[in-house]
Amino acid sequence: MNRGHWGSRLAFVLAAAGSAIGLGNIWKFPYITYVNGGGKFVILYLFCILLVGLPVMLAEMILGRSTQKGPVGSVEHISGKKSGWRGMGMLGVFASFSMMTFYGVVAGWVLSYIVLSLIGRFNGMQASEFSTLFTSLASSPWLNVGGSTVFLGLSLAIVLGGVKQGLEKFCNVLMPVLIGIMVLLCVNSMFSESEGFSKAIKFMFSMDGELKGHAILEALGHAFFSLSIGMGAMLTYGSYMSKDGDLVKSAVLVAFLDTFVALMACIIIFSTLLGHGVEVGQSVGLVFQTLPYEFAKASYGSLINLSFFILLFLAALTSGISLVEVPAAYLIDKGYTRNTSTLIIGGLIWIISIPCALSGTPEWNAVFGGWSFFDTMDNMVSWYLLPLGGLLICLYVGFVMPDKMRKNEYFTGSSSAQIFYTVWLILVRFIAPMIVVVIMLNKLGFITNQEFDSYFSSMLGSSKSQESITP
Ligand code: TRP
Repeated sequence: MNRGHWGSRLAFVLAAAGSAIGLGNIWKFPYITYVNGGGKFVILYLFCILLVGLPVMLAEMILGRSTQKGPVGSVEHISGKKSGWRGMGMLGVFASFSMMTFYGVVAGWVLSYIVLSLIGRFNGMQASEFSTLFTSLASSPWLNVGGSTVFLGLSLAIVLGGVKQGLEKFCNVLMPVLIGIMVLLCVNSMFSESEGFSKAIKFMFSMDGELKGHAILEALGHAFFSLSIGMGAMLTYGSYMSKDGDLVKSAVLVAFLDTFVALMACIIIFSTLLGHGVEVGQSVGLVFQTLPYEFAKASYGSLINLSFFILLFLAALTSGISLVEVPAAYLIDKGYTRNTSTLIIGGLIWIISIPCALSGTPEWNAVFGGWSFFDTMDNMVSWYLLPLGGLLICLYVGFVMPDKMRKNEYFTGSSSAQIFYTVWLILVRFIAPMIVVVIMLNKLGFITNQEFDSYFSSMLGSSKSQESITP
């Protein structure tokens, strides 16, 4: 069966960047950067991208393109249909599927906020009214199920179009629009929030803040999440790439765009909040309560709110399509048509997304030992499945994939120097797996955050903790 191919390398880069650039970049990265004190955390994050994120992303792309199959198909192609490594592929399919069920709920909230800013609802609203608004939105069964259904429907419609007519066509338009809005919002911050803008830049690049050792865990976990690695999305997109494109350059470009957008999001958000002397809140409060209130105060406030939520929605949509594409590609590789595969997967995701969408209602608020369905899915994917998937991919590409095949694929279409290949292989074989194992030990409770703080604080230059280890 013809699985489809990207029309050009640029199309591949835009689609992969679309998958990577998502809610994580615009919403989560700014607040974890704020909580971890700014400049030093940014540098630490850049190191994590360079030493772990980028190598793992390239490993996924190499595996996908060499076999021209999705996560399960690639393993079958190399190790046979009975290989236990198929479990790694299944894990990716399951993780993508699970992630879409809660990602869609947040995207649904964004959709509601687009409508609300369009009808001018935010004009003149008080801060407390934003909290009430969000609380009532999050606990409304209809709005949540409706919003996530519309988001899923749009993602399915694009995936049904196929690689060229669906994913590529939309990402080719949506990604430049997304980056354009981002640049405009950034320029706007520079001029209309000039004081906040300089505070933001200072905060992001100054080395004064205190960095705790366990920030490294957060930086790494987020690098995985942000680059969409560890669940076969980059592998699947790589499998639609023809053999003449440069994978090494593409991976570098995708990681660069992803990081660039995350940093711009920080500038936009910090300029407004630091400029207004407001705390950068965390989690849902930041994007759905504090920001729209502060944005609304500016001149052209409604336009800024509208642009920001459209930006967030586009980022979510281009990630959502890759979350659907991974499980759909699994069925396509099994011989089903694209239409059948997409509709089966879409139907299943829709069913599981309902309890996620109802998670804000009192009845569904705490079903799993105090956690809602939404939290359970989110934590399962972000804490365990992504790192585990990443670890397995490193080990598979590093040790199981035949040497010749790996090397061949790395250099096909690329003029990368031999030394980079050697460095990449060392990172994929040893460094990345080791670091991921450490993250997992922390999540499983074998190494505590405090232990991290005392091991790493002197290295990371945190003066306070240094004192505590050398009394
Ligand atoms: N990278 C996305 C974001 O930053 C989230 C994400 C993680 C993702 N893994 C993925 C998206 C796999 C698509 C496919 O929001």
